[in-house]
Amino acid sequence: MRVGLLTGGGDVPGLNAAIRAVVKRGEGEHGHSIIGFRNGWKGVVDGDVMPLTRRDIRNVLPTGGTLLGTARYHPHASDGGLDAALATLEAERIEALICIGGDGTLNAASKVAAAGVKVVGIPKTIDNDVWGTDASIGFDTAVSIATEAIDRIHTTAESHNRVMIVEVMGRHAGWIAVTSGIAGGAELVLAPEEPFDIGRIERFLKHRHRAHASFSIVVVAEGAVPAEGTPMHYETQVGKFGEIVAGAIGERLKVEIEQRTGFDTRVTVLGHTQRGGIPTAADRILASRFGVAAIDAVTAGTSNVMTAIQGEQVVLLPLDEVAGKVKFVPQDLLTVARALA
Ligand code: F6P
Repeated sequence: MRVGLLTGGGDVPGLNAAIRAVVKRGEGEHGHSIIGFRNGWKGVVDGDVMPLTRRDIRNVLPTGGTLLGTARYHPHASDGGLDAALATLEAERIEALICIGGDGTLNAASKVAAAGVKVVGIPKTIDNDVWGTDASIGFDTAVSIATEAIDRIHTTAESHNRVMIVEVMGRHAGWIAVTSGIAGGAELVLAPEEPFDIGRIERFLKHRHRAHASFSIVVVAEGAVPAEGTPMHYETQVGKFGEIVAGAIGERLKVEIEQRTGFDTRVTVLGHTQRGGIPTAADRILASRFGVAAIDAVTAGTSNVMTAIQGEQVVLLPLDEVAGKVKFVPQDLLTVARALA
């Protein structure tokens, strides 16, 4: 079989482990030819292909980024994009396509599947907000990086008696903020799931600094917003693909906190450091499991599904059930973050 493979959307650590698993299992076990498309859906539209053999995936397991390249590009969003993508798949005699991506890439995958192409998706996003799977590739690494950063910021916060704001990624859901906030012992965690009240933050910080501490760590997800009817006005600034302008909420909070409390405040925007470098063991394992499950599904003739981890099991979910939904942080996890302030 000729099986296409692409990585789309923002990169994450662990993509190469997934590519490696697809190629090793696909070529070695099933005898398929794996055809890589460069730069996500853009490569499918442009016919930009590279054969992927076992030689190409040597030593890539611990590496970050994606050897296929990636792009924020949705074929159905540009004129003739979908037709061009379908034409390339036909010209390359692709019998099934494995798409590794987040919500945008998987949404495009379900559109291509609706046009009759056999498609299997693999979820990746450091934001961890793909619906239906307990975890997506890249999340574990991002949480480790954010937790280490918070640990480091703790010591300088304490030395200078400062409020330190740490802005992490997470547009729609605050998975990185909540989990790294718990793991790093943040005093306040602000996530998109629970719009915040700046008045409450002011009272909390003043009380804490009066009563028992001279410093505080505030972890804020880039997609966090003030609650309606509360005294802070702020509008999320987004780019062309809905990506949030890094640093905007962190800087805005710094000004508000300094004005309201008089405490010396600094912002650290972790930004793309959360997506760079080597994947954790957990991400390598998840990516390897998803890669094997995806190529096995293709081999079995299964289509229009996404690999997902639920508990200990890797399962296949209908793509249509997943596309367009967001997995939010559940209440119990938000409660833990609040309880440990
Ligand atoms: O989609 C994941 C994500 O990491 C978001 O949290 C963030 O808003 C976005 O990517 C940043 O995208 P870009 O790399 O295109 O600036």
